[in-house]
Amino acid sequence: MAQLVPVEEFDIVIFGATGDLAQRKLFPALYHRWLDDQIPEGARIIATSRTEMSREDFLEQTRKSHAEFHPSEKVDEARWAKFAEQMDYVALDAVNEGGNWPEVAERLEGREEKIRLFYLALPPGIYGSVCENIGAAGLVTPKARVVLEKPIGTDLESAREINERVGRVFREDAIFRIDHYLGKETVQNLLILRFANVLFEPIWNSTWIDHVQISACETVGAGMRGDYYDGAGAMRDMVQNHLLQLLCLVAMEPPNDLDADAVRGEKLKVLNALRPIGIKHIDAETVRGQYTSGAIGSETVKGYAEELGRESGTETFAALKTHIDNWRWSGVPFYLRTGKRMASRRSEIIIQFKPVPHEVTNGQGGPLHPNRLVIRLQPDEGVRLLLMTKDPGPGGLRLRYVPLNLSYADTFEENYPDAYERLLMAVVRDNLALFMRRDEIEAAWRWVDGILNGWKEADTRLYTYPAGVDGPVQSALLLDRAGREWLDGMNL
Ligand code: BG6
Repeated sequence: MAQLVPVEEFDIVIFGATGDLAQRKLFPALYHRWLDDQIPEGARIIATSRTEMSREDFLEQTRKSHAEFHPSEKVDEARWAKFAEQMDYVALDAVNEGGNWPEVAERLEGREEKIRLFYLALPPGIYGSVCENIGAAGLVTPKARVVLEKPIGTDLESAREINERVGRVFREDAIFRIDHYLGKETVQNLLILRFANVLFEPIWNSTWIDHVQISACETVGAGMRGDYYDGAGAMRDMVQNHLLQLLCLVAMEPPNDLDADAVRGEKLKVLNALRPIGIKHIDAETVRGQYTSGAIGSETVKGYAEELGRESGTETFAALKTHIDNWRWSGVPFYLRTGKRMASRRSEIIIQFKPVPHEVTNGQGGPLHPNRLVIRLQPDEGVRLLLMTKDPGPGGLRLRYVPLNLSYADTFEENYPDAYERLLMAVVRDNLALFMRRDEIEAAWRWVDGILNGWKEADTRLYTYPAGVDGPVQSALLLDRAGREWLDGMNL
C-alpha cells in the first residue's frame, strides 16, 4: 500500500481560479489529496479570479468542472461538500495594486505561522506584478511560498525579468517553478533506476550507448488554445521545459544525494553542456512542422490554422538532434521530438545501446539486435529492457529479441496520484528537488533562444503533416542520415 503522510496545515491562495489549469488540474488535485486524508482539516483554499461571483457560484462551477474533467469518477456529494467547506472565493484583480487585496489579507489574518502558498495559475507576463502586489499587501510571511507555472517567459530576457521581479519579493528557496513532468512517477523513477542499481551506470556513456531518443507525442490539437499556444509553439511549450528536463535526468552525473541543490546542480551542468545549434546546422539538426487536417483513429480533425481561425507560422511539431559536450556523452546524439496531433499519445525515453563487440553466433539464428532500454512515461508506464535470447525448442539456433518487462500496472497495485497532486504536496513539504531553479530555467532558455533565433534568421521552413501521423517526413530524415530511425518503445 502507498503510504499517505498528511502534510502540515497550510493555506493556499490560487490566482486564476476560474481558468483552465485551476479547474482542470488544481482543484481536482486538492480534492483527491483531501479524499486520501492528506490535507489537514484546518488547511484552507482561497480561490481568486477577476470574475465577480459569490462563493456559492464559484463552488458550483468548480463542482461542474470536476464532473466534466473526471467523467468516470463517482463523486460522493456529501464528501465533496465537506471538502468545499475548506474553500473560499475572493474576486480580485491581482495585477491591480489597488484591487481587493485587503479581503485576501483578511482571510489570511492570524495565520502568519502557517505554511502559505500562492499559486499563480496565470499568464507568465503578469507574474512580476502579481508577486509585487502580494508583497505590497504584506502577505509574504516567513513560511510563504510562490508556485509558478511554466513557461517562465518567452525567451531568456523575459525569463530573467520575471525571475528578477519575483525574486525581489520571494527568496529563491521559496519559489517553486513547476514542470509537471517532474511530478510523473516514471520521471521520478529515472533517478532511482539509474542510481539505485549497479547495472546501468557503468555502461551509461558513449562507450556503450549509440544514441538516445526522447519523444513526447500527443494526439490533442493546439489551435483551440489560441493566443497562448500560437505565441509559444512546440519549442517553448514542450522542449524548453519538459523535454530538456527529461534529457537532464538521463544525462546528468550522479548527485551526492537527492537534496534539491545537489540534483539541480547536476541538471544545470547538462544544460550548460548542450551544444548550441548554430545557424550553420539549423536545417540539418532541426525540423519544424505544423499539422493540417487529418484523422486520429476514426475521428476526422481540423488542421491547426483552421482551429485557430487564421494562418500561422507556429510549429506544432519540433524534432532536434542535440549533443552534450562533455566526456560522458561525447559523440552520442540525443534526438528529441514532440508534437500535437500525432499518430498516438506516448511519451518515452529510449536508450539505444551499441552492438556487441564481437558476434559469437557468426550470423547463425538471425541478426543480433543491440540492447535497448525503454522508459515509458505514459500511457502504460513501465520500463522495458530489450535483450537477445535463444528461442527455446528443437531445430537449431534461433535468436529472439524480447523485452524484460516492468509494467507499472501489473507490478504496483495502487493508483498513484497524478503529477499535480504530487507536486502540490511537494510544495507544502518544501521539497524543491522537484522544481526548477532560476539558473536551470535561464540555461534552458539560452539554448532554446539559439534555435528560435536560428529559425528566424535562416527562415527555416515549416513543413506540414496531416493530423494522425508522427510529424513531417523530414523528421525521419534527421535520423535516417545516420542510419537510425525513430523507435516505438512498445512495438519493438
Ligand atoms: C503542458 C503543455 O505543459 O503539457 C501542453 O502546455 C501539453 O501543451 C501538456 O499538452 C502535456 O502534458 P501531459 O502530462 O499530458 O504529457
